[in-house]
This record gives sequence, structure tokens and C-alpha cells, in this order.
Amino acid sequence: MNLPNMKDAKIRSKKEVKILYDDYNTNNLLDLGKDKKYLILTYGCQMNVHDSEYISGIMEDIGYTKTDEMNEADVIIVNTCAIRENAHNKAEGMLGRIKHLKEEKENIIVIFCGCMAQEEGLVSKIKDYKWIDIICGTHNYHKIPEYLYEYMNSGKMCEVYSIEGNVIENIPVKRDSKYSAWVNIQYGCDKFCTYCIVPYTRGKQRSRKSEDIVDEVRELYNNGYQEVTLLGQNVNAYGKDFQDDYDFADLLGEVSSTGIPRIRFVTSHPWDFTDKMIDVISRCDNIMPYIHLPIQSGSDRILKLMGRKYTTKEYLEIVRKLRERIPNVSITTDIIVGFPGETEDDFKQTLDIVNKVKYDLAYTFIFSPREGTPASMMEDKTSMEEKKKRLARLNELINKYALESNKKMKDKVYDVLILGESDKDDKYMGYTDNMKLVNVKCDKEYVGKIIPVKITGVKTWSLDGEVNDK
Ligand code: 5AD
Ligand code: SF4
Repeated sequence: MNLPNMKDAKIRSKKEVKILYDDYNTNNLLDLGKDKKYLILTYGCQMNVHDSEYISGIMEDIGYTKTDEMNEADVIIVNTCAIRENAHNKAEGMLGRIKHLKEEKENIIVIFCGCMAQEEGLVSKIKDYKWIDIICGTHNYHKIPEYLYEYMNSGKMCEVYSIEGNVIENIPVKRDSKYSAWVNIQYGCDKFCTYCIVPYTRGKQRSRKSEDIVDEVRELYNNGYQEVTLLGQNVNAYGKDFQDDYDFADLLGEVSSTGIPRIRFVTSHPWDFTDKMIDVISRCDNIMPYIHLPIQSGSDRILKLMGRKYTTKEYLEIVRKLRERIPNVSITTDIIVGFPGETEDDFKQTLDIVNKVKYDLAYTFIFSPREGTPASMMEDKTSMEEKKKRLARLNELINKYALESNKKMKDKVYDVLILGESDKDDKYMGYTDNMKLVNVKCDKEYVGKIIPVKITGVKTWSLDGEVNDK
């Protein structure tokens, strides 16, 4: 057993990260999953969604086929998220269901992985649960074939590396979409915002080599993909771990030259957002006018306590430049309310910044103390009731601006990449260049294509449209 350790997870060793092209290997386990099925449950952010695409790639590589039916599964993989308590609770609730299932069908193998598997307190508890068979962390999921084999031969497996591994380049991937793909550009995070568990669960920042990223994008484009989203906790810190000065703006320029029609990236940190990046985004037509730029709080005092290392003035300056240089740009954000010590006055400053930026959309959260992080130890006198009220006030304002920005799009024509069927009857869904969800009346043949769509209706969270033939 190799358990996670928060102290080790905080270490940022100077040891050079290795890029490995042959570390994933199936050790002749290619038939392990013959005639068997796996089910994967994914919680959390895009990073986890994309990790699940890799885990699916691995499972299919060793012969398993995918199912969405829990009763049919021979292996159930729970890919967890640790960012807030409610993500924890969701995964724990699901584990309750799996426990009952395992009591009826004891041959099912349960794999617990993702960010919760990197948490010391949690794993020390679940390692003794008899109905979880394999626990594996975020740095070593490429070893799942080995763990399955070991489990089948000798019982429970738990391996979690606290100090991050290397960059593994040869893991097979099974993507959910045929048109829009996630592409990792970096792993981990070195920012250590005081509320955040990610630097502990995902480890040191490690950038992939630009050649590997560009090759992956080129191959996706050759295979018909229309869009890539470059993924990292802090995409604009890309390359800071290299010896030379190659940076995210350079990478964007190179990815743009592949000619793939649409390039997006998440998440940008206001700390590293350079003019060079704004130049390249405004210069390249295939870099989409959409920036997710988490502000977290509108109070400089709280930003300091959060360890965010920018002021609201600096943030607003980035927004000003983005609006000036990138026509039609959408700006979205993340905001935490009820950070320890947040007063009514601090909160009002958050409302002020929302009034200034007029975000297209925002993801808003109540502060959730994560074990081992500095903020979890800060004094917090505000009641949950008050925090909920603040969240409701904030959401009301956010929704007002979301609707306002959507209304401006009415009757205009936008290019939309149609991704698949919509939940709405007889419609297909897709996104505009500035990342607005549109439900479009169109033929099935448009799926996977970028088409001009006239916006006919607007709501707070989505738009309606029809193909513009003119
Ligand atoms: N409590 C509440 N929200 C958090 N986030 C990260 N950590 C916490 C926490 N402990 C939010 C931040 C981040 C988003 C992904 O999740 O807003 O940008
Ligand atoms: Fe967490 Fe801050 Fe890193 Fe984002 S930048 S992952 S909020 S520590």
C-alpha cells in the first residue's frame, strides 16, 4: 500500500520532470477484459472528464467494452473530484449505491481514482472499505492494467503517489466527441491559492513539450476534429517550467498554424496574462474570442488572503485590453463567496466588479474548507445562512448580465459548431465562437460542421437559432 501524504504533496522538487514515451504498457494484459464491461463515473472539471477519456482508452486497450448500465458492469471506475465538499458528497453518495451493488454481485471490481484518491484523510478512511478494490491516484492511472491484474491475483490494491510523476505520452485515449477534443498542455499547479486543494492533488506544474501538443492537434485535425480546447490549471503559466523562454503565446501561435478551425483554452490566471497572449489571440482568426478569467473576489483584501497575487485594478486592466483588442470577446469567471473573513463590504466589492465587467457567465461557489489548505485554518465567523444569501444576491446579478449579453446577439448571425443532439425536441446543439450554447433547428447532416446560425431567441443560459441560408 502506498498512501497519499499532504506534506509530501506540497513539496516542489527541483528534479527535472521526465517526458516518457513508453511508460504505459499493458505487459501482455491485452485480454484481461475480454467479454467484460466497464462503467466509468466522472465527477468534477474538464481535466477529470479528459482523464476519464484516457482511462476509457486504457480499459478498451485491455479488452473491456464500455457500458452505461451499472448492473452490467464487471468493473466500476469512480473518477472523483476534491475541489469542494459537495463534489465529495456526490462521489460518497455514489459509493453508497456501489456498496449495495457489490453486496449483491461481489465479483464487480471497484476502482476509486481521481483527486479524492490523493487526499490523505479520506484515503486513510476508505482504504479499509472492503468493497473498494483498487485505489489509484491522479499520477498513476496509466497503471490500471497492472493493478487489475494484481487485484485479480492477490487482492486489494492501493497505490497513490504523493510526489507527482512525470509526463506520460503514450496512454491510449477514447474521446467522447468526434468533433471537439480536449488536449492537455500542462499538468498540476504551483500557484497554491490558499483555498485550493488542486496543487496537492495534481502536484507540481509540468508542461508537455510543444512538439507533442502540436502533433496531437495536427492529428486531430487530420481526423476531422474542428475544435480543440487546450487544458491546464493555468494555461498561461505554460512553459514556466522550461529552461528556455518558450511560453503560452508561442504555443498558441504554433497550434494556430495547424489550421484547425477552432482553438480554445482553459483556465487562464490573471497573474500570468501577458500582452503577448492578447496579441496572438487578436491576430489569429482560429483562436476563439472566449476567455475564462477567474476573479474569485472583488476585494483586494480578500484576494491577498486568497494568495491570488493580482489586484482588482490589474484585473480590470486585462479586461479592458481584451475588450479593446478582441471584438466580440466573451469573458466568464469563477467567484467564491464567504471566504474566511469576507465582510459585507468585501462582498459588495465583488458585486461592484461584476457590475464593471458585466460577465457573459460566471460559476459561483460558497467557500468550502479543504483539509490541509491554509484557508481551512483561517478564522471564519460568517454563518452559512449569510453566505447562502450572498450567493443568491451574486447569482441574481450574474444572471442579469448573462441575459443582457445574450440579448445583444438576437437577430445576428454567428458561426456555430454543431456537436450533437440537443435535449430540446428536434434540435441540435452547438457553440458560437464566443462560447454561447445554441439550440439550432437544422438537419442531422450539420453535426460536426461549422454553420452560420441566426439567433432567434435568447434565454439566460442558452440561445435558440436557425440555419442562416442567406
Ligand atoms: N471552495 C470553493 N470554491 C473553490 N474553488 C476552488 N477551491 C474552492 C474552495 N475550497 C473554485 C474556484 C476555482 C474553481 C474551479 O473552483 O473558484 O476557480
Ligand atoms: Fe487552484 Fe489557484 Fe491553482 Fe487554480 S490557480 S488550480 S485556484 S491553486
